[in-house]
Amino acid sequence: MIEEDKEMRWRFDDYDWVDRYDEEVAADSELYARYDEVLEAVADLAAPAPGRRILDIGAGTGTLAAICAGRGAEVVGLDSSERMLAQARAKFGHDDPVQLLLVPDPFLDIPCPDGSFDAVVSTYAFHHVPHQKKPGAVREMVRVLRPGGVWALGDLAFENAQEEARALGRFNWLEEEHFARIDELRPVFADAAMSLNTKQFTPVTWVLWASKPPAAAE
Ligand SMILES: C[S@@+](CC[C@H](N)C(=O)[O-])C[C@H]1O[C@@H](n2cnc3c(N)ncnc32)[C@H](O)[C@@H]1O
Repeated sequence: MIEEDKEMRWRFDDYDWVDRYDEEVAADSELYARYDEVLEAVADLAAPAPGRRILDIGAGTGTLAAICAGRGAEVVGLDSSERMLAQARAKFGHDDPVQLLLVPDPFLDIPCPDGSFDAVVSTYAFHHVPHQKKPGAVREMVRVLRPGGVWALGDLAFENAQEEARALGRFNWLEEEHFARIDELRPVFADAAMSLNTKQFTPVTWVLWASKPPAAAE
């Protein structure tokens, strides 16, 4: 098992390949198979358009933020890596409606008011959150969603721990991380009166989404 303590100190900024992230992703047909489709699917669920506000957690080099901003949405991107965000900043001009913020714990401590986003999205980052902290991360993401807003995630994930173990035994390029287990996430969303939807893109990659209940009628 990965020690949580070690994982918490695992920082993107400590690795040289971080500065080549986009090229590494494009060249990787295993871990990042169907990457572009996953990002498009997550963006479609967030329905970016002028007047909509989208929060991208673990925004990294800003690829998903660029898709959403390109369709007119206002995007706030959070990440804990200055080197990833530096690449993101290079993709945007002053007029782009994108705000990129370096924060220590982007899933668990979102520096934004309750209900301030129409959609909360994330791609290939939630697996950095240890299992025992995922329920709190979900609650924090739901907190900043407006009633009726959409949560959408693309990441390595598994239906359950058994499927995860099977994949770890099958794919030698897959390293153990805190991959989301769908059966463990469902009750967390159910507690927020949200129903988790799923679509599998590769043997290890899923898009998950759920809508926050609309505000009760007065
Ligand atoms: C594999 S990259 C994904 C970047 C981008 N979202 C994408 O789809 O290409 C993972 C990102 O998550 C960030 N990250 C690492 N640990 C994190 C954590 N605990 N919470 C939020 N983001 C984290 C990293 O700095 C990195 O930018």
